[in-house]
Amino acid sequence: MTKLAIVGGTGLTALKSLEIQRREVVHTPYGEPSGPLTYGLLSGKEVVFLARHGYGHTIAPHCINYRANLWALRSVGVEKIIAVAAVGGISAEAGPGVMVIPDQIIDYTWARCSTFFEGQLDQVTHVDFTYPYSEELRQAILRQCAAIGVSAVDGGVYGATQGPRLETAAEVNRLERDGCTLIGMTGMPEAVLARELDLEYACCAVVANWAAGRGEGGLISMDEIEENLEQGMDSVKQLLESLLPQL
Ligand code: HPA
Repeated sequence: MTKLAIVGGTGLTALKSLEIQRREVVHTPYGEPSGPLTYGLLSGKEVVFLARHGYGHTIAPHCINYRANLWALRSVGVEKIIAVAAVGGISAEAGPGVMVIPDQIIDYTWARCSTFFEGQLDQVTHVDFTYPYSEELRQAILRQCAAIGVSAVDGGVYGATQGPRLETAAEVNRLERDGCTLIGMTGMPEAVLARELDLEYACCAVVANWAAGRGEGGLISMDEIEENLEQGMDSVKQLLESLLPQL
């Protein structure tokens, strides 16, 4: 049974080195996931791949059916998830093209279905979310980055914003005052839903741009985002290819 999944974000809607074996359409009690699950071998290791925004990159961050995605993965036996995400960088070390393995989250999203524990419950349930990412998986990622000479920042606070618009410069200042070092639009509720399903979950965040008002302070262009992501995602692919056989 395939126990490991990669959820790809912007810049990673497909993994070229994945030897695809089959695709599976999974229906869930929460609706349809972003697409069929893609089963394949990466460096000889079985893995399930799912493109968070759909394989054609058509589903906006606030429209993703996070519950269906996570439920589908768990229903086929997945136990560990490496989530790949494009982010904006706030802190000085999180410049464009840099890979960051965050260790904390602040959630600014709203009106997203962010729990499985609602409706007619046997028991009201509150999951512990003190440490939102699996430290074991985070450390495995960081060890492998060191082993193959790919640089990655250890730790960061992922501010999850609603999108799909980017932030104002003032909002970025506020996020920084709150302690955020990165901003992305998909980190929540994905991480908490993984926790509710008892899945090990860690994030490889690739900085696509300086957050609004940072860097040179100019406007953020989609061209700039794509260019930086291409470079950063190369490191992610290299990491995943060598990490998977270790997990
Ligand atoms: N803000 C939020 N999400 C993002 C950004 C950003 O600047 N860049 C890539 N995803």
